[in-house]
Parts: sequence; structure tokens; C-alpha cells
Amino acid sequence: MLAQLMRRKAVTEATSDAEAPEHRLKRTLTAVDLTALGIGAVIGAGIFSSTGSAAAGGADHIGAGPALILSYVLTAVACGFAALCYAELASMIPIAGSAYTYAYVTLGEFLAWIIGWDLILEYAVGNVAVAVSWSGYFQSFLAGFGMRMPAWMATTVNHAHDTPGLIEQAPHLFGVPIIFNFPAFAIVALLTVLLVVGVKESARVNSFIVGLKIILVLGFIAVGAFWVKPANWHPFAPNGFAGVMTGASIIFFSYIGFDAISTTAEEAKNPQRDLPIGMITSLVVCTVLYVAVTAVLTGMVPSSELGVADPLALALQKAGLTRLAGVFSLGAVIAMTAVLLVFQLGQPRIFMSMARDGLLPKFAAKIHPRFRTPHVTTIITGIAVGIPAMFVDINDAIEFTNIGTLFAFLLVSAGVIALRRLEPDRPRPFRCPWVPAVPVASIICCIALMLRLPRITWIRFVVWLAIGLVIYFAYGMRKSRLNKAHA
Ligand code: ALA
Repeated sequence: MLAQLMRRKAVTEATSDAEAPEHRLKRTLTAVDLTALGIGAVIGAGIFSSTGSAAAGGADHIGAGPALILSYVLTAVACGFAALCYAELASMIPIAGSAYTYAYVTLGEFLAWIIGWDLILEYAVGNVAVAVSWSGYFQSFLAGFGMRMPAWMATTVNHAHDTPGLIEQAPHLFGVPIIFNFPAFAIVALLTVLLVVGVKESARVNSFIVGLKIILVLGFIAVGAFWVKPANWHPFAPNGFAGVMTGASIIFFSYIGFDAISTTAEEAKNPQRDLPIGMITSLVVCTVLYVAVTAVLTGMVPSSELGVADPLALALQKAGLTRLAGVFSLGAVIAMTAVLLVFQLGQPRIFMSMARDGLLPKFAAKIHPRFRTPHVTTIITGIAVGIPAMFVDINDAIEFTNIGTLFAFLLVSAGVIALRRLEPDRPRPFRCPWVPAVPVASIICCIALMLRLPRITWIRFVVWLAIGLVIYFAYGMRKSRLNKAHA
């Protein structure tokens, strides 16, 4: 039994799998495309939405205040450790599947399944949060032009009680009010169609959006800097180090995504060299931007007032720059479209890897004969993200995503240590420095951040893992290709 749980896929087998003609994807992405994909995944709902509530504090957490700047630096360091681990494994095992595939080669099938299952939280649940945030900014943008959607089709149910009269106004079906977030669903549906048609087309759209996104963030920093009142930076850390760490566990969401690059390894021209470059470059660029945005934001407005969905737009409005705030909302919508794109691109490729390995049903591994994209899993992902996005609360989704992603990072870091022991001689085009110190530091950082998340998030996480276990023991363990190969 233990041998079964620990069976590992050979690195060579994992690589040749992806080379089988019926499974082969088009290799078109360059280092620049990959960095753009990374930045495209990273800058989004995290910096545009979660920064506010992390600084101000909320119902289930204390605020960091201006010291959220430190949270961003600390989290960047934590992600940097994890990125070095990811880069080593990604460059050794350049095939689709992200941490899932690395784990299959290093830690064995059981942990690989757990990670793959866990990554659904990072990719799909993460995108639920981004889609909800997208919808919020989209509506602010519409409002800027005097347009408004009926509230019943642009709100999540649990916010309906905050809007007087909404429940009465909503259409009813068998006495139940119909309230849902239509824009959040619509954007996911639209991107799903784009992704079925082709990855290169999508990457090109993404590169364009990433340029816009950087201009937007730099624009905020440049304009906002003139409205900073240093008095707003006092007290710097109203809740001390505890506030800084709690803030870090929330804004961790802002950094999620650099690892998504590794899921496109099969479509990269030179994955050995370009994957580490893409991950680390996008992480460094984003850290510099985040620290600057947070410093300017907390300098413009007292932190306690920042607990809104669109804190950056709020800061511009308070400075009297109303029109600019409207333009900024449009920019945020574009920025978050890019984030959605990368995760809607990554999740189907993880599902596809799992299906190839027999841990999920085989039909999911099909590649579209003309578009050469994993169309089955792309559509499944579209449904799995689009439907919950109509009903779920954004903060719940962010916290759930963070705990799952931190756990995946933790297992990847452990994987680096394990593989150095198990297969010390295998070529490592990129070597993580100071092993085991860096992976251990990464593991400690992940645990420290996970421990700051609320109890309800932990309960959801444990339930999620339990469901994953049931599926593995009832299906994957028997249907696994490695199992059949053995028999
Ligand atoms: N890092 C991504 C975002 O902030 C998930 O939207």
C-alpha cells in the first residue's frame, strides 16, 4: 500500500509523455512571453482590492495600517524562497502540470494528487475571487459613464442584505429571490471561448494588457505621490507585528501567479532557461510596484478608511481626481482580465496532466484536433469558475485560495529537498541556492502565513482535502496509469 502511494513517475517518462504526438501542444512561447504571463497573472485583484482590507482590518482580521508595506516585503521574500524552489523543479521537469507534475516525480503519486487537488484552490477558486473583483470594478467603470446594471444581477447573495430594497426588487422564482453576479460569470465565459481557440492568440492579447497594466500602476504611483500626507503614515503599525503578519496572509493573494508560468512549460520554446527567468523577473517587478503603490496609497488616505473594494480608486477620488478614478477602474478591469486569462489557461493544463496519468478520467486529456488546445478541460474549468463566481463572497474566496496555495508551495519546497537526496545526479538547469536552507525557509514562511488565516478557512481547507482523499482512494489509485503499468 505504502509503495503504491509513493510510486513516482520517472522524470524521463513525464517528459516523453508530453511529447506523444496526440498530446503535443504548440511550442510558441518565449522568455518575454513567459514573463508577461507571470506579470499578467500576478498584478490584479490582490493589489487592487485586498490591499485596502488588509491595511484597514475587517470582520475577521486586524489591519496592518501603513506597515502593510512591510507585509508586502515579507511576503515577497517568502514567495522568493518558493520561486527558487519552483524554478529548480520546473527547469528539471519541463512539462505541463505545475507543482502537481513535480510532485509526481519527486514525492510520489499520493502527494502529487494532494497537490493537484490543492492547486484547484489556487487556480480555480483564486479566479472566482478575481472574477468577483472584476465585476466590482466593471460596475464602477459603468457608473463613471452614468450606466448601472440592475443590482439583482450584479451582486452576490450575501451582500444583498447590505443593499436596502434589493431582495424585494429582485425577480422571484417559487418565492426565492434571484440574485447573482452576472458580469463575473460573463467574463469567465468569454475568456473560456478565447482559450479554446488558441494559446498564442491569448498570449498576444496578454502581452498587450500587461503593458497597459504596468502603465496604470506607475501612473497611480506618479500621480498619487503628489497627494501623500506623511501624517497618514502615523501610527505606522497600529497592530504591531501581528497586524503585519495578518496583512501578509491576506495580500499573499497579490503574489499568486508567478508559478502559473510553469504550467505552460510544454508551450515554451526553451523551458530550461526561460521558466526560471520568467518567474523570478515577474516576482521582482511586482514587488517593487506593490511596495510603491502601498506606500503612496497609505500616504494618501488614513489606513482605517481603506476597507473598500476599490481602495485605489477611492484614494484618487478623495484627492479630487474623480475622472482619473473612473479611468483607473477601467484599467483595473483590464488588469484583472489578464489575471483571469492566465489561471483559466493554467487550470485546464493541470487537469489534463492528471487525466493523462489516469488520476482523472481519460477523456479530459483530449487535445482539440485543429486548435491544439486542451478544450475539454478548458470548458470544464470555465464552468467550475463561472458558476461559483455568481454567488461567492470575495474575501472567503481569497482566504481559501491563499491557504491552498501556501500548502502547495510548502510541498514543492519539501520536494526540492527530497529530490536532491533521491536523485542527486540528475541535471538541474537551474539550481536553487543554499539547499536545504532556502526550501526550509520557504516551508517556515508558508506555515507562518497559513497560521494567520481564520479558523473557518482552515475548516474549509480540511474538508476540501478530505474530499480529495476520498476521490483518490475510490478512483485515482486504481485507475492510475502507473498502477496499470505495474499490473
Ligand atoms: N495575484 C493575482 C491577483 O492579485 C491572483 O489578482
